[in-house]
Amino acid sequence: MADDPRSGPEVAVVGSANLDLVVEVETIPVAGETVLGGDLRLIPGGKGANQAAAAARLGRRVAMIGRVGDDDAGRTLRSAMDSAGVDTASLLTTEDAPSGTALIAVGADGDNAIVVSPGANGRLSSADVEGAAGALGAAEVVLLQLEVPLEAVSAAVRCAGGTVVLNPAPAPATMLPPDLLDRVDVIVPNQTELATMAGHAGLSPIGEVDPETAVALARGLPIAAAVVTLGAAGAIVVTPTDATHVPAPAVVPVDTTAAGDAFCGALADALVGGADLVAATKWAVRVGAAATLRHGAQPSLPTRSEVDQLLGA
Ligand code: RIB
Repeated sequence: MADDPRSGPEVAVVGSANLDLVVEVETIPVAGETVLGGDLRLIPGGKGANQAAAAARLGRRVAMIGRVGDDDAGRTLRSAMDSAGVDTASLLTTEDAPSGTALIAVGADGDNAIVVSPGANGRLSSADVEGAAGALGAAEVVLLQLEVPLEAVSAAVRCAGGTVVLNPAPAPATMLPPDLLDRVDVIVPNQTELATMAGHAGLSPIGEVDPETAVALARGLPIAAAVVTLGAAGAIVVTPTDATHVPAPAVVPVDTTAAGDAFCGALADALVGGADLVAATKWAVRVGAAATLRHGAQPSLPTRSEVDQLLGA
């Protein structure tokens, strides 16, 4: 596929695939608390797979580079991506680890708490990623997150030919290597992830930040542009010279799981379509908001026509 630029991927994703074990609860428990919830549901997820599926459901040619286990969960995850239209030729199978799993509690307000067991995702190596160098070199946008080893993310930026978008989720435990950040064109953190990265860079204490502070912190990171997601308040596009707030449509969310992934997939979709970063963010906030109106990670991801239907516009 990657030998023919007309049929190569428009978007390449290097990242995780998890089987989400989801329970709806009235209120997400705090440490030491036990709560009763609804029936367990098993749903395809993982930040990488969700972002790949999001862009594919919006009509883009997408390649997924990652690893699943040689188990039922792995087969479910591969099949979900195939159904979404994602090219899974570079989704490798790991014999010695189970597929990634995420334990997710979803509260009555649609908010969630997630624990990830990386499993096979943690076995993704730089050599695995270099094996997909053709797809990564051909893609107009390479989408990355931090649920796979840093060596795989670093290999992805070395192989990338187009625009590199990094969603630093989950927030990194230490400062990301400068040679990785140098090759990132757009970073897409939420407020907590931004504050954590800024803390590692010596810019502020680690914690959540308000939108005004977010602009200053984003400019303090060694990255050309940032799109800071603000949940229900939308997002701010930050460049060295401008800061543009893009409000989100008002919605009553039922489940915010993968809303950020829908956002990233839509941002990639719009960038491939030639949009500038502000226009791409306007589309991404709509797709992210639409995804909060349905349950589950990948089942919530809308097609292009479903975005307006879901938002009632
Ligand atoms: O962003 C949502 C995703 O985070 C879930 O699907 C879960 O698998 C974790 O990776």
